[in-house]
Amino acid sequence: MKARHLLTTIGMAALMLSSGAAYAQNKMTIGFSQVGSESGWRAAETKVSKIEAEKRGVDLKISDAQQKQENQIRAVRSFIAQGVDAIFIAPVVSTGWDAVLKEAKDAKIPVVLLDRSIDTKDESLYLTAVTSDTVYEGKVAGEWLAKETGGKCNVVELQGTVGSSPAINRKKGFDQVVAANPGMKIVRTQSGDFTRTKGKEVMESFIKAEGGGKNICAVYAHNDDMAIGAIQAIKEAGLKPGKDIKIVSIDGVPDIFKAMSDGEANVTVELTPNMAGPALDALAAFKKDGTAPKKWIQTESKVFTPETAKAEYDKRKDLY
Ligand code: AHR
Repeated sequence: MKARHLLTTIGMAALMLSSGAAYAQNKMTIGFSQVGSESGWRAAETKVSKIEAEKRGVDLKISDAQQKQENQIRAVRSFIAQGVDAIFIAPVVSTGWDAVLKEAKDAKIPVVLLDRSIDTKDESLYLTAVTSDTVYEGKVAGEWLAKETGGKCNVVELQGTVGSSPAINRKKGFDQVVAANPGMKIVRTQSGDFTRTKGKEVMESFIKAEGGGKNICAVYAHNDDMAIGAIQAIKEAGLKPGKDIKIVSIDGVPDIFKAMSDGEANVTVELTPNMAGPALDALAAFKKDGTAPKKWIQTESKVFTPETAKAEYDKRKDLY
């Protein structure tokens, strides 16, 4: 009897020790459904996520959705089947998530949204969302331009991926400024899908349609990569980006700081690529004692102009 009791005690202690050791080493496995590699910012986010996971001893399995929601849904289902400890999703579009998130919830796997939000009536389908205020990003970019141009400017807009939360919200924020400034107009707007190549292509068509670019006062690009593509198109059309046509964008990647220090871009709103760090910390607290994080963990959005561009470029060039 005594021996059996002793064995049970040893067994329990071993179990506690092994789970304690696992916890101490943070041996969590997390599946991350990433959008793709459409931009410099996205590549940096993937890189930083790996670094942040490694720091915490987390096994991060990244699945590249190549900008397709169906690939993301397939990846999430596969993570559920593998029994991962949590799932991160950077949702390519904002709608159509309820069914698969319900499957994750039924499997008791917490889901964290990274850098993009979703449209759902049921917030219990995800633990938290780590994102910036994307409406604010568009608004602050517009306010800079309104001030710079005295509220008079014909703007061409390069939108992000159709249906993605940053494209919807960055447009919304900028439109609020346009509505408040009767001399500001969006004369052309089209999606460049957050890529450099499409940004250039669309900008070429805008230039053709707007008197060789002479009727354009500024480009508002929903990300820096499309802005860089637009800068190339403007130069090829024989105009000076940053001077003949102002360049306003969002992300804060090294290439835009380089363009700013060369006088070819005017302003960017920084989006941190470190979404995974706060997400992993929130998840660790939740796994430890059930601490529920805030539903929205908001990251900072800072405005940068050419004065500090060289220093900012030097700071970031190796991270990206
Ligand atoms: O969701 C964040 C956006 O997605 C970034 O601004 C853009 O570069 C990326 O593709």
